[in-house]
Amino acid sequence: MKGILLAGGSGTRLHPMTLASSKQLLPVYDKPMIYYPLSTLMLAGIRDIMIVSTPADLPQFERLLGDGSALGVRFTYRVQPAPDGIAQAFLIAGDWLAGAPCALALGDNLVFADHLGLSLRAAAGRAEGATVFAYQVRDPERYGVVTFDETGRALEVVEKPANPQSNWAVIGLYFYDHRVSDFARRIEPSSRGELEITDLNRFYLEEGSLQVERLGRGCAWLDAGMPDSLMQAGTFVQTIQSRQGMLVGSPEEVAFRMGFIDAQALRGHARRLSKTELGRLLLELADGVHS
Ligand code: TTP
Repeated sequence: MKGILLAGGSGTRLHPMTLASSKQLLPVYDKPMIYYPLSTLMLAGIRDIMIVSTPADLPQFERLLGDGSALGVRFTYRVQPAPDGIAQAFLIAGDWLAGAPCALALGDNLVFADHLGLSLRAAAGRAEGATVFAYQVRDPERYGVVTFDETGRALEVVEKPANPQSNWAVIGLYFYDHRVSDFARRIEPSSRGELEITDLNRFYLEEGSLQVERLGRGCAWLDAGMPDSLMQAGTFVQTIQSRQGMLVGSPEEVAFRMGFIDAQALRGHARRLSKTELGRLLLELADGVHS
C-alpha cells in the first residue's frame, strides 16, 4: 500500500501564522506538525509516501524530509496548484499510484491511541473496500459526520452538516483499495468548489464496502487547524512526553520500531538532535531503555 500526506491548503484559520509559512510546518510542541501524520502512515507499515503541497511550500517539505532514506522510506513530492479539495490528491497522484491501494493522511491531523498500530495495519491489509475512523466530538458540524444503525453499521456520511445527526466525525486518515483513483475521477466539485473526501467515502458506503472504525475514549484525535486546537495539540504532546518519557509523533521512533532502520541509524538521528529532549529520548530508545 502507498500513502499520501496532504499538506497544502490555505490555512486561513491560522492567519497571520500561515501567511508566510505552511500550516503543516508550524510547531506542535517540539516537532513540525507534519511529523505526526507522517508517523501515523509509517505506523501503518507504509514506506512509499507522496507529499503533496502548494507550489510555494513544497520545497520546504523537501528540505525538511529529504528522500526518506534516513527513515528507511521513500518520499515523492508533488504540487497541488490550488486547494481544490482533499479528494483531488488521488487525481494528482493517479499515475504514481498506478492502481495500488492507498492511504491518505491530512497534514494537520494528529491521532494517538493505545494499539493504534494494530488497527492501522489491519486497515492497510484489507484487500477490498475502504476503512475510515470516527471520533466523537463536540463540534461535528465542522467535519464529515457519520451516522450508524443499531448494529453499528455506517448508514450515511455527510460533509459539514448544519444539523448533525450524530457527533461522530470522520478523522483525516483514510484507507482505500486499488479503485480509489477511478472513484476520485467521478467526483464533481461541491457547492464550495472542492472535490470532497466525503463524496469519495460515499462511493464505498453505497456499495457496502466502507468500514468505519470507532475510536473510543482512550484515544486522542486533534486537528491542529485553529489557534486553540494547535495549542491543545502542543500541550497534549508535551504532557505525554514529559510525564511518560515516551515520544508522540516521532517518525524516527516509528522507523526504528517498524524495523525500517536499525539502532545505529537511530543513534545518528539522536546525535543530530543532541541538544534536545527529543534527541535524548531517541538515544534511550536506541540503547533499549524503553521497550
Ligand atoms: P482544511 O483545514 O479543511 O483547510 P485549510 O488547511 O486550507 O485551512 P483553512 O480552512 O484554515 O483555510 O484542510 C485540511 C487538511 O487538508 C490540511 O492539512 C490542508 C489539506 N488540504 C490540502 O492539502 N489541499 C486542499 O485542497 C484542501 C482543501 C486541504
